Amino acid sequence: MDLSTTIAGVRFPRCLMNAAGALCVTREELEALGRSRAGAIVTKSMTLEARRGNPEPRYYSFGSGSINSMGLPNLGYLAYAALIPQLRKFGKPVVASVAGFAARDFVQIAKAINDSRPDLIEINLSCPNIPGEPQIGYDAEASERLLSEVRTVVSVPIGVKLPPYFDPAHQEKMAKVLERVEVQFLSLINSVGNGLVVDADRESAVIKPKGGFGGLGGALIKPVALANVRAFWRLFEGRLPIIGTGGIVTGSDVFEHLLCGASAVQVGTTLVDEGLGAFDRLEQELVAVLEKKGYTSPAACRGVLKEL
Ligand code: DHB
Repeated sequence: MDLSTTIAGVRFPRCLMNAAGALCVTREELEALGRSRAGAIVTKSMTLEARRGNPEPRYYSFGSGSINSMGLPNLGYLAYAALIPQLRKFGKPVVASVAGFAARDFVQIAKAINDSRPDLIEINLSCPNIPGEPQIGYDAEASERLLSEVRTVVSVPIGVKLPPYFDPAHQEKMAKVLERVEVQFLSLINSVGNGLVVDADRESAVIKPKGGFGGLGGALIKPVALANVRAFWRLFEGRLPIIGTGGIVTGSDVFEHLLCGASAVQVGTTLVDEGLGAFDRLEQELVAVLEKKGYTSPAACRGVLKEL
């Protein structure tokens, strides 16, 4: 079955890709994504300077999900700008994830990365793990200022990676911002920020940074991810492509994201836990689900969720 999809005019050979942060920091990891069944190569969120990130342990996976406080370990934007033209040779879209500590960082990085011609730029408004730095995506005014500036310096399509929202009023307010600044796609959602996982035996937090607080991912966040995909699908009446992220463990999870309105999905926790073979498995499982349901493509079931 043809699992290709198109987002902001860019064709993806398959509708599954890594989530920013998962196995995508180094050149070796990015090239391995290029050789894998991933339908795109998404980079780690890049900052101005190279960063080692937060002290370890900083990632912990448990049965129903994961918690992380990586602290943006990455090679710095200049290294990714140099790598992107080489990554494009794998014949699948390259998505550059851009972060920063101030609006002017985002603008500087977006401008330089735009010149290296990724297929898409994903602006990360939702890193929860930098001590003292709030998530920009929870401040609609700051998000609008930042995105309208970034807009003026890029020519490749841009999208935003948003944090989860838990109230329709917040989704509506952000949707109006996104409409005004004319972003071309959404990635929903980033990790559920500042959760706390406790090891009762050790009477301890499981990660070191920020007293154990970190971003939650994996199976346990799927209902929150689906709710955000669905809410933004409805707010934009299906006109703005959405990449669903959160809780993709099986092909059926991919199918659920498609039903809610996603055009593609990103895989984080499952990819880190299972390795690149997860793409082969998820692809086979998705095809099996779609065939059983009588759908001939991912697009055929996009957004068709029944509301009772
Ligand atoms: C990190 C975590 C995130 O959820 C994110 O969006 C960006 C960065 C991190 O800690 O590296």
